[in-house]
This record gives sequence, structure tokens and C-alpha cells, in this order.
Amino acid sequence: MSEETVRVLGIESSCDETAAAVVADGRRALSNVVASQVQIHARFGGIVPEVASRQHLLAIVPTIRRALDEAGVGWADLACVAVTQGPGLAGSLLVGVNGAKALAFSRGLPLVGVNHLEGHIYANWLTGAEIEFPVLCLIVSGAHSDLVVMPGHLRYDRIGQTRDDAAGEAFDKVARILGLGYPGGPAIQRAALKGDPTKLRLPRAWLPDTCDFSFSGLKTAVLRVVERQAELGLTVEDVAASFQESVADVLVEKTRRAAEDFRVRQVLLAGGVAANALLRKWMAERVPLPVIVPPLEYCTDNAAMIAAAGHYRFAAGVRSGLDLDVEPSLKLV
Ligand code: KG4
Ligand code: ZN
Repeated sequence: MSEETVRVLGIESSCDETAAAVVADGRRALSNVVASQVQIHARFGGIVPEVASRQHLLAIVPTIRRALDEAGVGWADLACVAVTQGPGLAGSLLVGVNGAKALAFSRGLPLVGVNHLEGHIYANWLTGAEIEFPVLCLIVSGAHSDLVVMPGHLRYDRIGQTRDDAAGEAFDKVARILGLGYPGGPAIQRAALKGDPTKLRLPRAWLPDTCDFSFSGLKTAVLRVVERQAELGLTVEDVAASFQESVADVLVEKTRRAAEDFRVRQVLLAGGVAANALLRKWMAERVPLPVIVPPLEYCTDNAAMIAAAGHYRFAAGVRSGLDLDVEPSLKLV
């Protein structure tokens, strides 16, 4: 192995995926292991925090071991351990943070705390694309819908956010209304393939003159439609397709306008909802700038993105002490 390569072990446990990965030079994932709990929580129709932390405890050690094995590296090859500090579920975050602290202490490795959202953004550095600042980043996850301008590495100016539900939350809630199960995003995407979006026009909250979003009105509109679904002659698939178009339309159009107003050079997508095929397609078609989109495995929660963000924080001299604590409400800016 060459002397110059910087390898970072990333650990992620903020929600319902226990993940560990090794990333070289902040740009190349050597491994990306995700132990998903999705089947366990699907039974309850959503994440049960106590169950999540218990599953993290069971999965954390084998997941880290596999990440090192698959990358073909040992402890001596690592430059540091990067771990998600927040935002997320306290009990879930604690497992990753305490695991990372134990490893950093016992192996004599530097520890770097990472913001989960920063991780989602840095998933874009794993694509191999040359990223040129300033960039506009649309972060759309289960808890966030933010538009952020990055003038340079690790610098974030938030220009827009959701005023109520996050995009992913809207997908999850509407999937529940439509009886499509959990997690809602992939279920709605699958159902929409068989639906006709032209049969129903759902509202779009444009919130003119701001880069903010709002999705709660759309969710209520779906609820009203579902009450009259038979009368309106609509299938669940039609409603799913129409809902998906409404969300994607607003996200793409507001991103396009913000990219123009803030004169950025590129657009990056981040977060679980960035896995949505229609959003990816429309973003590429309608934004007249290079649009960088992480591969699906780096959109939803994973540790390669945490290692990538950790790499840039480490390079900037960031070090966390062994008193690093979880921050369930940690902000990006
Ligand atoms: O980033 P993420 O994995 O976890 C959080 O940090 O929240 O995002 C999870 C969210 C969920 O709301 C899920 O329904 C949504 O991302 N999601 C999708 C798709 N895949 C996951 N939403 C729309 N289309 C998808 N294909
Ligand atoms: Zn996430």
C-alpha cells in the first residue's frame, strides 16, 4: 500500500442502519458495509428507537470487522476513525460513538466526529466526479429538506429549509396513508411505476421568493383524495405517481432557481430521497448545470459518506476528544 494514501474508517449508527466503511483519500470506498434493520422496523410501520439501539449493539462489532476485512486493511493502515455524532436518535448514535471512542483509544487512532448531513453531502465525493465550488446541495432525507450553498470544503450557507415535513417524511407518511408500508420512499416509487400521474393534479407549495419548502399541505391533499378515491376513479398507484411528481417538481424547480440565483457551478444531491429515480431524472433534465448524484448505495444511510466527510475534516485539522458526545439535534449550520 502506498505511503500517501489516507484511509479513514467511518462508523454510522444514527438511525436504523449499522454501517462501517473504509474510504481512501476521501474519494474511494474500499468497503461499505450496511447492516439494515429495515425488516425489523417494517413490522411496526416505523422506527422503534429502543429496538434500533439494541440492534446496533448486536451489529456494530461484526459490521466494523467486515468493513476492515472487505477493504483488506488492518488497524495500522488507518489514519483516523470518523463517526456520526448527530443528528439522529440518541440511543442509536451512542452505540456508534462509544464504539468509535473505544477503537480510537485502544488503537491509538485520532477520532473525528461528523455531522450526519455533512456525510450525506460528502457522498458526492465518492462518485469520482470533479467537484467545483461553489456548489448548491439539495439535502433530502427522512428529517431534512435543505438547500445549502458550499463556497468551499466544510463551509455551508443554508439558503432554504422545510417549514414543516421533510421530503422523506412526506414520502413515509403518504405511503402509510396509501397502505404501502415502510419505508415509504421506495414503496411509493415502486407503486408509481404502475400508476398514471395525469389522472390527478396534486398541489405544489412554491412559497415564492424563498428557497424554503413545505410538504404538509400536499400530505393533507393526499388524505382528502384517498377519502374519495373510489368516487374519483383513482388507484393507489395513480395517487402515488401523482404525489411523487408533485414532490419532485417542487424540489427540482426550487433547486434550479436557487442554482441560478446563487450562481453556483454545480448541483449536488444528498440524502435518502436522492435515491428517487424521478427526482434524479428531472434534476438532470431540467437543471442546466452539471448535476452530481451519488450512486444509490451512498444516498441512503451508509458509513462511506461519513468516512469521506471525516477525511476532509481530518485534513482540516479537526480532532474530537474522548469526551465526544452524541448530539441528537446537531445542526449543519
Ligand atoms: O438519508 P436517509 O437514508 O435517512 C435519514 O438520514 O433520514 O433517508 C431516509 C428517507 C426515508 O424517508 C425514505 O422513505 C426516503 O429517504 N427514501 C426515498 C427513496 N429511498 C429512500 N424517498 C423517495 N424515493 C426513494 N427511492
Ligand atoms: Zn441519513
